[in-house]
Amino acid sequence: MSRKPLIAGNWKMNGVLIDACNLAAGIAAACRGVSDRDVLLAPPFTVLSEVAHTIGDAPIILAGQNVCWEGKGAFTGEISPVMLRDAGATATLVGHSERRQIFGETDELINRRLKGALDFGLLAILCIGETLYQREKSQTFAVLEEQIRKGLADIAADRMGRVAIAYEPVWAIGTGKTASNDQAQEAHAFIRTLLADLFEKDIAAQTRILYGGSVKPTTIDELMAQPDIDGALVGGAALDVDTFGRIIHFT
Ligand code: G3P
Repeated sequence: MSRKPLIAGNWKMNGVLIDACNLAAGIAAACRGVSDRDVLLAPPFTVLSEVAHTIGDAPIILAGQNVCWEGKGAFTGEISPVMLRDAGATATLVGHSERRQIFGETDELINRRLKGALDFGLLAILCIGETLYQREKSQTFAVLEEQIRKGLADIAADRMGRVAIAYEPVWAIGTGKTASNDQAQEAHAFIRTLLADLFEKDIAAQTRILYGGSVKPTTIDELMAQPDIDGALVGGAALDVDTFGRIIHFT
Protein backbone atom coordinates (compact mmCIF):
# COMPACT_ATOMS: atom_id res chain seq x y z
CA MET A 1 0.00 0.00 0.00
CA SER A 2 1.41 3.39 -0.91
CA ARG A 3 1.31 6.06 1.77
CA LYS A 4 1.48 9.72 0.75
CA PRO A 5 4.67 11.17 2.21
CA LEU A 6 4.32 13.83 4.91
CA ILE A 7 7.04 16.39 5.59
CA ALA A 8 6.30 18.30 8.79
CA GLY A 9 8.04 21.27 10.31
CA ASN A 10 7.86 21.84 14.06
CA TRP A 11 8.94 25.39 14.80
CA LYS A 12 8.80 24.77 18.57
CA MET A 13 9.07 27.97 20.65
CA ASN A 14 10.53 29.99 17.79
CA GLY A 15 9.05 32.72 15.63
CA VAL A 16 7.93 36.13 16.69
CA LEU A 17 5.37 37.49 14.30
CA ILE A 18 7.49 39.11 11.60
CA ASP A 19 9.93 36.20 11.48
CA ALA A 20 7.13 33.64 11.38
CA CYS A 21 5.34 35.37 8.54
CA ASN A 22 8.53 35.78 6.50
CA LEU A 23 9.38 32.10 7.05
CA ALA A 24 5.84 31.02 6.21
CA ALA A 25 5.83 33.09 3.01
CA GLY A 26 9.09 31.50 1.90
CA ILE A 27 7.90 27.97 2.64
CA ALA A 28 4.58 28.64 0.90
CA ALA A 29 6.49 29.71 -2.21
CA ALA A 30 8.60 26.53 -1.98
CA CYS A 31 5.40 24.44 -1.84
CA ARG A 32 3.77 25.92 -4.94
CA GLY A 33 2.65 23.05 -7.18
CA VAL A 34 3.59 20.36 -4.66
CA SER A 35 0.92 17.64 -4.70
CA ASP A 36 2.68 14.26 -4.39
CA ARG A 37 3.53 14.80 -0.72
CA ASP A 38 1.87 16.58 2.18
CA VAL A 39 3.63 19.47 3.88
CA LEU A 40 2.71 20.46 7.42
CA LEU A 41 3.80 23.37 9.59
CA ALA A 42 3.42 23.57 13.38
CA PRO A 43 4.15 27.21 14.32
CA PRO A 44 3.75 28.60 17.84
CA PHE A 45 0.03 29.12 18.54
CA THR A 46 0.58 32.85 19.02
CA VAL A 47 1.33 33.31 15.30
CA LEU A 48 -0.79 30.49 13.89
CA SER A 49 -3.60 32.61 12.48
CA GLU A 50 -1.16 35.06 10.88
CA VAL A 51 0.78 32.16 9.38
CA ALA A 52 -2.52 30.80 8.02
CA HIS A 53 -3.24 34.17 6.43
CA THR A 54 0.29 34.39 5.04
CA ILE A 55 0.33 30.98 3.36
CA GLY A 56 -3.09 31.58 1.78
CA ASP A 57 -3.99 28.70 -0.55
CA ALA A 58 -0.54 27.11 -0.55
CA PRO A 59 -0.81 23.29 -0.08
CA ILE A 60 0.28 23.34 3.56
CA ILE A 61 -1.43 21.68 6.53
CA LEU A 62 -1.23 23.82 9.67
CA ALA A 63 -0.89 22.17 13.07
CA GLY A 64 -0.72 22.89 16.74
CA GLN A 65 2.27 21.71 18.78
CA ASN A 66 0.00 20.36 21.52
CA VAL A 67 -3.70 20.39 22.34
CA CYS A 68 -6.10 20.07 25.27
CA TRP A 69 -8.73 17.33 25.31
CA GLU A 70 -11.58 19.75 25.99
CA GLY A 71 -13.09 22.32 23.64
CA LYS A 72 -13.18 24.99 26.36
CA GLY A 73 -13.05 25.40 30.13
CA ALA A 74 -10.88 25.91 33.18
CA PHE A 75 -7.57 24.70 31.75
CA THR A 76 -5.17 27.57 32.33
CA GLY A 77 -2.41 27.80 29.75
CA GLU A 78 -3.92 25.19 27.48
CA ILE A 79 -5.03 25.50 23.85
CA SER A 80 -8.24 23.79 22.80
CA PRO A 81 -8.90 21.93 19.57
CA VAL A 82 -11.58 24.54 18.82
CA MET A 83 -9.01 27.31 19.15
CA LEU A 84 -6.62 25.47 16.84
CA ARG A 85 -9.30 25.05 14.20
CA ASP A 86 -10.40 28.65 14.64
CA ALA A 87 -6.83 29.78 13.95
CA GLY A 88 -6.60 27.68 10.78
CA ALA A 89 -5.08 24.42 11.98
CA THR A 90 -6.43 21.04 10.91
CA ALA A 91 -3.80 18.97 12.73
CA THR A 92 -1.75 18.82 15.90
CA LEU A 93 1.26 17.15 17.46
CA VAL A 94 0.76 15.32 20.74
CA GLY A 95 3.34 13.71 23.01
CA HIS A 96 6.40 15.48 21.69
CA SER A 97 9.46 14.38 23.66
CA GLU A 98 9.94 17.90 24.96
CA ARG A 99 6.43 17.72 26.45
CA ARG A 100 7.40 14.41 28.04
CA GLN A 101 10.96 15.17 29.14
CA ILE A 102 10.63 18.83 30.18
CA PHE A 103 6.98 19.12 31.18
CA GLY A 104 6.41 15.63 32.52
CA GLU A 105 3.54 14.62 30.27
CA THR A 106 2.62 10.97 30.74
CA ASP A 107 1.39 8.48 28.18
CA GLU A 108 -2.02 8.65 29.85
CA LEU A 109 -2.21 12.44 29.52
CA ILE A 110 -0.99 12.23 25.93
CA ASN A 111 -3.69 9.67 25.19
CA ARG A 112 -6.32 12.13 26.48
CA ARG A 113 -4.87 14.82 24.25
CA LEU A 114 -4.92 12.49 21.26
CA LYS A 115 -8.56 11.60 21.87
CA GLY A 116 -9.44 15.29 22.19
CA ALA A 117 -7.75 16.07 18.89
CA LEU A 118 -9.70 13.29 17.16
CA ASP A 119 -12.97 14.27 18.89
CA PHE A 120 -12.69 17.68 17.25
CA GLY A 121 -11.76 16.41 13.82
CA LEU A 122 -8.03 17.12 13.84
CA LEU A 123 -5.27 14.98 12.33
CA ALA A 124 -3.09 13.92 15.26
CA ILE A 125 0.60 13.09 15.09
CA LEU A 126 1.56 10.97 18.10
CA CYS A 127 5.23 11.52 18.91
CA ILE A 128 7.21 8.70 20.52
CA GLY A 129 10.88 7.84 21.00
CA GLU A 130 13.47 6.47 23.39
CA THR A 131 16.21 8.30 25.28
CA LEU A 132 19.91 7.51 24.82
CA TYR A 133 19.94 5.77 28.21
CA GLN A 134 17.04 3.55 27.18
CA ARG A 135 18.70 2.70 23.87
CA GLU A 136 22.01 1.91 25.52
CA LYS A 137 20.14 -0.34 27.96
CA SER A 138 18.46 -2.15 25.03
CA GLN A 139 15.07 -0.87 26.17
CA THR A 140 14.12 0.82 22.89
CA PHE A 141 11.47 -1.65 21.74
CA ALA A 142 9.93 -1.90 25.23
CA VAL A 143 9.70 1.88 25.44
CA LEU A 144 8.18 2.25 21.98
CA GLU A 145 5.66 -0.52 22.71
CA GLU A 146 4.55 1.15 25.94
CA GLN A 147 4.23 4.56 24.26
CA ILE A 148 2.23 3.10 21.39
CA ARG A 149 -0.07 0.90 23.46
CA LYS A 150 -0.78 3.59 26.07
CA GLY A 151 -0.82 6.47 23.58
CA LEU A 152 -3.33 4.71 21.34
CA ALA A 153 -5.36 3.11 24.15
CA ASP A 154 -9.11 3.04 23.37
CA ILE A 155 -8.63 4.68 19.97
CA ALA A 156 -11.21 3.15 17.66
CA ALA A 157 -9.87 1.59 14.48
CA ASP A 158 -12.10 3.84 12.35
CA ARG A 159 -10.33 6.92 13.76
CA MET A 160 -6.83 5.77 12.86
CA GLY A 161 -7.14 7.34 9.42
CA ARG A 162 -6.51 10.66 11.18
CA VAL A 163 -3.52 9.45 13.19
CA ALA A 164 0.14 9.51 12.19
CA ILE A 165 3.08 8.42 14.32
CA ALA A 166 6.36 10.33 14.63
CA TYR A 167 9.30 8.27 15.81
CA GLU A 168 11.79 10.73 17.28
CA PRO A 169 14.69 9.14 19.13
CA VAL A 170 15.34 11.70 21.86
CA TRP A 171 19.09 11.32 21.43
CA ALA A 172 18.81 12.54 17.83
CA ILE A 173 16.67 15.63 18.53
CA GLY A 174 18.60 18.86 18.21
CA THR A 175 21.93 17.05 18.34
CA GLY A 176 22.84 17.05 14.67
CA LYS A 177 23.07 13.26 14.98
CA THR A 178 20.47 11.65 12.73
CA ALA A 179 19.64 8.04 13.46
CA SER A 180 21.14 5.73 10.85
CA ASN A 181 18.82 4.51 8.12
CA ASP A 182 18.93 1.02 9.64
CA GLN A 183 18.15 2.30 13.14
CA ALA A 184 15.22 4.34 11.89
CA GLN A 185 13.85 1.62 9.61
CA GLU A 186 14.13 -0.98 12.38
CA ALA A 187 12.13 1.22 14.77
CA HIS A 188 9.54 2.09 12.13
CA ALA A 189 9.06 -1.55 11.15
CA PHE A 190 8.60 -2.43 14.81
CA ILE A 191 6.02 0.33 15.25
CA ARG A 192 4.15 -0.95 12.23
CA THR A 193 4.03 -4.47 13.65
CA LEU A 194 2.62 -3.00 16.87
CA LEU A 195 -0.07 -1.20 14.88
CA ALA A 196 -0.93 -4.47 13.11
CA ASP A 197 -1.26 -6.16 16.49
CA LEU A 198 -3.42 -3.36 17.93
CA PHE A 199 -5.55 -2.89 14.82
CA GLU A 200 -6.03 -4.54 11.43
CA LYS A 201 -3.09 -5.11 9.09
CA ASP A 202 -4.64 -2.64 6.67
CA ILE A 203 -4.60 0.10 9.30
CA ALA A 204 -0.97 -0.62 10.06
CA ALA A 205 -0.22 -0.49 6.33
CA GLN A 206 -2.00 2.84 5.85
CA THR A 207 -0.68 4.66 8.93
CA ARG A 208 2.08 7.13 8.15
CA ILE A 209 5.14 6.86 10.39
CA LEU A 210 7.43 9.89 10.31
CA TYR A 211 11.04 10.03 11.41
CA GLY A 212 12.24 12.99 13.48
CA GLY A 213 15.66 13.85 14.88
CA SER A 214 18.18 16.10 13.12
CA VAL A 215 16.70 15.55 9.67
CA LYS A 216 18.77 17.43 7.09
CA PRO A 217 18.78 17.76 3.28
CA THR A 218 21.75 15.36 3.29
CA THR A 219 19.83 12.64 5.12
CA ILE A 220 16.23 12.92 3.91
CA ASP A 221 16.59 11.07 0.61
CA GLU A 222 18.01 7.88 2.13
CA LEU A 223 15.55 8.02 5.02
CA MET A 224 12.64 8.29 2.62
CA ALA A 225 13.98 5.33 0.66
CA GLN A 226 13.32 3.08 3.67
CA PRO A 227 10.14 0.99 3.30
CA ASP A 228 8.56 2.03 6.60
CA ILE A 229 9.56 5.68 6.69
CA ASP A 230 6.73 7.81 5.33
CA GLY A 231 7.98 11.28 6.12
CA ALA A 232 9.86 13.48 8.53
CA LEU A 233 9.17 15.69 11.51
CA VAL A 234 11.75 18.44 11.23
CA GLY A 235 12.78 20.90 13.93
CA GLY A 236 15.79 23.13 13.44
CA ALA A 237 15.99 22.68 9.69
CA ALA A 238 12.37 23.86 9.35
CA LEU A 239 13.38 27.33 10.53
CA ASP A 240 15.25 28.07 7.31
CA VAL A 241 13.39 28.36 4.01
CA ASP A 242 16.12 27.00 1.76
CA THR A 243 16.99 24.09 4.06
CA PHE A 244 13.39 23.07 4.69
CA GLY A 245 12.60 23.56 1.01
CA ARG A 246 15.31 21.04 0.12
CA ILE A 247 13.85 18.57 2.60
CA ILE A 248 10.33 19.10 1.23
CA HIS A 249 11.63 18.41 -2.29
CA PHE A 250 13.35 15.15 -1.37
CA THR A 251 13.82 12.78 -4.30
O1 G3P B 1 9.60 17.65 16.35
C1 G3P B 1 10.76 17.63 15.57
C2 G3P B 1 11.96 17.84 16.41
O2 G3P B 1 11.86 17.25 17.65
C3 G3P B 1 13.24 17.42 15.73
O3 G3P B 1 14.13 18.45 15.97
O4 G3P B 1 15.97 19.97 15.42
O5 G3P B 1 16.38 17.49 15.64
O6 G3P B 1 15.11 18.38 13.67
P1 G3P B 1 15.47 18.58 15.11
